[in-house]
Amino acid sequence: MSETRTLHLPDEAATVALGRQLGRVAAAGDVIALLGPLGAGKTTLMHGLAAALGVVGPVPSPTFVLLRQYQGRLALAHADAYRLGDAQEAWSIGLDELLPGDGVTVVEWADRIASLLPAETLTVTLTPRPVGRTAELAAPSLARWLEGLPW
Ligand SMILES: Nc1ncnc2c1ncn2[C@@H]1O[C@H](COP(=O)(O)OP(=O)(O)OP(=O)(O)O)[C@@H](O)[C@H]1O
Ligand SMILES: [Mg+2]
Repeated sequence: MSETRTLHLPDEAATVALGRQLGRVAAAGDVIALLGPLGAGKTTLMHGLAAALGVVGPVPSPTFVLLRQYQGRLALAHADAYRLGDAQEAWSIGLDELLPGDGVTVVEWADRIASLLPAETLTVTLTPRPVGRTAELAAPSLARWLEGLPW
């Protein structure tokens, strides 16, 4: 059973701050699924997450490469499942070995490969609102992701 919590992110800085929070508390073997329509803020959140993991340098959208890997406090893999037709194609780029991997794996458009996601996956669904975005967080044990969050 997943627990859920919905946070309001009034501006871009709040999306980055949520990403930083997730990067601060992430542990080896964590998988984070990022969902939301075009322009929802997935890459913005990823930038905060990578920065908090100590990844230095640019973290571009993986859209054209499908999978990028970085090294910070932990290894960070960033995948985009947007153009992956199915789980078979995820295997072809080695994504299955990162679900979970040795470090942290973030998958944008993860609904495309839902059957491959571990049960412990943290799902973050970003939704555009009249002001800012909402982020719905869902995971079997959500408390550790929210630890220390002042909101
Ligand atoms: N909480 C927020 N409130 C308002 N604007 C935001 C918020 N979070 C992010 N944005 C803005 O939304 C725009 C799109 O963000 P981003 O590129 O991260 O979306 P995306 O989900 O990665 O989109 P795509 O699916 O096209 O790659 C950016 O201009 C960003 O600054
Ligand atoms: Mg993006």
